[in-house]
This record gives sequence, structure tokens and C-alpha cells, in this order.
Amino acid sequence: MASILIKGGRVLSPEDQLDGELDVRVEDGVIREIAPNLGGAADETLDARGNVVAPGFVDIHVHFREPGGEISETLETGLAAAVAGGFTAVSTMPNTKPVIDRPELVRAQIEKARSLGLARLFPVAAVSMASQGESLTDVAALVAAGAAAFSDDGRPVKTAGLLRRALERTRDLGVPVSDHCEDPSLSGAGVINEGPVAVKLGVRGIPGSSEDVCVARDLVMAEATGGRLHIMHLSTARALDMVRQAKRRGVRVTCEVTPHHFTLTDEAVLTHGTNAKVNPPLRSAADVEAIRAGIADGTVDAIATDHAPHAPELKAKPLGTEAPSGVIGLETAPGLALTELVHTGLISLWHLVSLLSANPARIIGQPLGRLQVGGAADVTIFNPDLEWTYHVAEGRSKSRNSPFDGRTFRGAATATIVAGRIVYRRGM
Ligand code: DOR
Repeated sequence: MASILIKGGRVLSPEDQLDGELDVRVEDGVIREIAPNLGGAADETLDARGNVVAPGFVDIHVHFREPGGEISETLETGLAAAVAGGFTAVSTMPNTKPVIDRPELVRAQIEKARSLGLARLFPVAAVSMASQGESLTDVAALVAAGAAAFSDDGRPVKTAGLLRRALERTRDLGVPVSDHCEDPSLSGAGVINEGPVAVKLGVRGIPGSSEDVCVARDLVMAEATGGRLHIMHLSTARALDMVRQAKRRGVRVTCEVTPHHFTLTDEAVLTHGTNAKVNPPLRSAADVEAIRAGIADGTVDAIATDHAPHAPELKAKPLGTEAPSGVIGLETAPGLALTELVHTGLISLWHLVSLLSANPARIIGQPLGRLQVGGAADVTIFNPDLEWTYHVAEGRSKSRNSPFDGRTFRGAATATIVAGRIVYRRGM
């Protein structure tokens, strides 16, 4: 296998207490050396001056629609979008057709992804059969097949009783239950955040309390069972504060936020229409501020994209009724995070790298997110100052549903290395 010498970059790996001008030698899929001024031969030398050399980014929340939704994305196009965003590993959600609720389906996803040779794939399996909220899946068999977490994403774990059983089973296997928090009796037929924008557009609103009530329920069950709970795409100030308080009490809870929720408010629906329709919905300015504060103070564990592709003909349906919820996010994530969080002075580069690598890797229990001699050579090289404009039509995802089309960012992935192979490069 090819050897790569990465020279002149700022090597930054919080988990390894590494931050300095160092070179990295990769051989046979493994990191061989990390030291200043490395010489010697390599099949390829990457000039990383002006770049950060970080552990491969891990996105624990994506939808690749295969099987059943290939009109919107496939494993191949989704994984291509992932590596273009600097992601070396992703976790796919089980809300495909059929739902990933049996071991053979988990294995098929892993095998297909492996054959594509792009990013690593760690499937999330369903909590309940067909995600219907009635009977628990065979959690142990799914973990043995390679499931990294359990979720009925797209909808919440239906009842406290089911969540209790899921947390008890997964607790003993060391994997989390990842919940999409929403109370359908409150969100009902709502389509965007409840508030002035919904009123103006004459569509039904989804109150923040829909998420808050479910987060409260989930925290009670995590505390009662000692199971490991992960809150997905957290979007409200109150939910964030409940997670903050629960962590102080020692509850085993983690949470993720998406780039769209730390960047946009529901006002984005006025300009971007269905391309800003997402569940949970884009919220108020006060919620965005609270989420940013939660990122800064460490309450938020990870940035995850909730990359949710929907083909143009689906997003062309009416906002108030049939248009599906979701936005794509893999290719814009590092640009948004650097522009909105680091260049604004909210958090350090060090902190951002943790949110994109070691922290999410820990949530799905994978030994990734580090730069260690002898460890897997999953490396993301990014230029934190590269200015570029995102044109969704040029994206690698099969879908175009982004509210960030035409936006200029400062910062981008410039090379993505998975298991010692360069799988993406941009001007490098
Ligand atoms: O906006 C969303 N889209 N939220 C979800 O929970 C599911 C996702 C999807 O599958 O499109």
C-alpha cells in the first residue's frame, strides 16, 4: 500500500494532546511517525503548509437512503459527499426502506460501504421493528452484526416503556440509544417552528416544547436505567439546559447539534422555502444563541450534520404539506463550523476538532478520532482560511436541498485520508 508523507502542517489532535508543526508519515494504512522535519522517501508527499492536520472527522448522523430511496442518495454518492466534507467515518440512520432492523441488513450496509473504499460506515440500527415503536429489535444480534447505536430516527422512541427496555439492553452492550426528540401530540401536523414565520406563511407550527417534553422523558429514563442516551439534533434552549443539568448530576447523556441549527433561524424558510424545512425545525434567534453557548461551554458533545437528502422533485412539493423535511450538510459542515464558530471567536480550533472527531467517535464507541503512531491513518487535512463559495449544483450528494447555496465560507477540507488512502483532495 502507498506511503504518504504529510509535511509542514499544524498537527492538531486534542485527544493526544498534540498541537504543533509536525510531519506525519503514513504507511500500510497506519500512522508510522509523527515528528518534526521528517525526511525519506514516500509514494506521495503532501505539502500541508497553512493547513491543519487533524484526526479524521466522524459524522454520527447521516441519511444515505439506500436501500429504497436511491432517487435521493446512494451509499456511493453519500460517502463521496462525506469525504468531500472531510469525514472519514459516518453513521447512517436506519430509516431506509426497509428499515435497518435485522442483522443481515446491517451487514449488507457495511459490506457495500467497504467495497466503495471511501469513508468508513458504522450503521445505526432501529430501536423497534420497522421503527414502529412496538417491539424491540434483537439488540444483541444487531450489535454483533456491527450496529454502532440504536435509533428510530425520523421519529422518537415511541414510549417511555420501550425506551426503558432499549436503554437496559444497550447499557449492557456498551452502545447508546440515540433519540430524535419530539412529542407527536405537540408537533402534530406542524411543518416549521411555531412563531411569527409560521403565522406569516400560514403553515402549522412545531413548538419547542415538543422537543423539550421528549428530552425530559428521555433524561428521566437514562437516569433511572443507567443506560447511555444520546440526544440527536438538539434544537431548543430549554432542551440544551436540561442536558446541561443532567450532565451535572452524572446522567450518562451526550448530545449533538447540526450546523443548520447553530447557524440559521426559522427566518431562513422565508428565503429558502422547503430547502429550509427540517425536523426539528430551525428555531428562534434565542435558541440559536443558547445552542452556541452550549457549544462553547462544552454541553454539546458533537457536531453532526443530519445530512438528509431529498430529490428535487420531492422538495418541489408544497411546504405546508407533502415536502419532506431535511437538508443536506456533509459538504458544508467544516466551512460552516469554521466560519460560524471558530472565526467568530466562539471556540478554538482545538475545541472544534474535538467536536468533529474524538467526541463523536467516543459516542459510537469506535477507536477513531486520534492521531497515534500505530493507529489507523484516518486523517483530515483542512485549510481554516480557504475562502470559497458553495454551489449546491456542483455538490457530490445526489440531492440539492441545501439552504446554504451561494454562501461563502472561510475554511474547507483539502485532503481526506481513510485507512492510509487519499480519498479526496482539493488543490492539494
Ligand atoms: O429533517 C429530517 N429529516 N429530520 C429527521 O428526523 C429525518 C430526516 C430524514 O430522514 O429526511
